Amino acid sequence: MTSMGKIAGEPVLSAQERAHPAPGSEASARFLEKYLVVDDAGMVFDTKKGAFIALRDINLTVAKGEVVSLIGHSGCGKSTLLNLMAGLLRPSTGHLLVGNREIVGPGPDRGMVFQNHSLLPWMSCFENVYLAVERVFGATEDKPGLKARTQAALEMVGLSHARDKRPGEISGGMKQRVGIARALAMEPKVLLMDEPFGALDALTRAHLQDELLRIIAKTQSTVVMVTHDVDEAVLLSDRIVMMTNGPAATIGEILKVDLPRPRDRVALAADPAYMALRTRVLEFLYRKHQPVVEAA
Ligand SMILES: Nc1ncnc2c1ncn2[C@@H]1O[C@H](COP(=O)(O)OP(=O)(O)OP(=O)(O)O)[C@@H](O)[C@H]1O
Ligand SMILES: [Mg+2]
Repeated sequence: MTSMGKIAGEPVLSAQERAHPAPGSEASARFLEKYLVVDDAGMVFDTKKGAFIALRDINLTVAKGEVVSLIGHSGCGKSTLLNLMAGLLRPSTGHLLVGNREIVGPGPDRGMVFQNHSLLPWMSCFENVYLAVERVFGATEDKPGLKARTQAALEMVGLSHARDKRPGEISGGMKQRVGIARALAMEPKVLLMDEPFGALDALTRAHLQDELLRIIAKTQSTVVMVTHDVDEAVLLSDRIVMMTNGPAATIGEILKVDLPRPRDRVALAADPAYMALRTRVLEFLYRKHQPVVEAA
């Protein structure tokens, strides 16, 4: 083992030890605290009109098992930040890490629910989910097992009846639910969701929010979710990351949501702590950082 690059007082760890620290050790506690790390990230897009600075100075650490929401006005860069975490975009500056490894591309450890659902149009709902399940579990499980996982995921989002339909034959909300089923069926360590419930009617939305609460309590998944919905952010999150308006958007404030779990939406509606949190988010969005209205 070499001492090159050793920081005074820091133990020298091999790459293997850094990636999988011994349980109960100090390194392990740090690893769990800083499971997903965005370190000074910025994103500049090349456009016809020149460089467009979408994001700057983004610093965020998400602990293992934590649920974090990203909230901010349209165009502030929420999807861009999520795409950086998914590895679909590389940052122009800074770094992103998951489990101590640099994010250099998409991986089965990070499941993504896209804002525009991104299903393969020539495949049925079942096949769209099955494809992802096979990619993750194909090497270790037999076909009946993979099919059962696929079926269970479709059942969870209430779509068993539409399993053989193609995306072109179902509604926008149903397509979104297939996207959610696909991501959940992969049982990813990190679930990245871009306005997953945006296109749904209020009842389906509430049902799937409750399902998500149940699933993440069971699987201890780490979740980063984009939402426009203040109530959804408070109900689901451990922290709410509030973003300033773009261009060159960044994190404005981070609000800790210390409401006990399990959370009950009906009981919370009259809870003063819940209402205070809700007001804080609304104040940020509508007093401090008003929506940008483009001149006609
Ligand atoms: N590939 C790209 N090329 C150039 N500009 C881009 C690209 N992707 C995003 N942008 C710009 O970056 C900014 C942030 O976009 P992004 O889609 O991340 O916003 P958002 O917060 O997700 O918005 P919404 O709430 O409407 O989904 C916008 O000004 C957008 O036009
Ligand atoms: Mg978006």
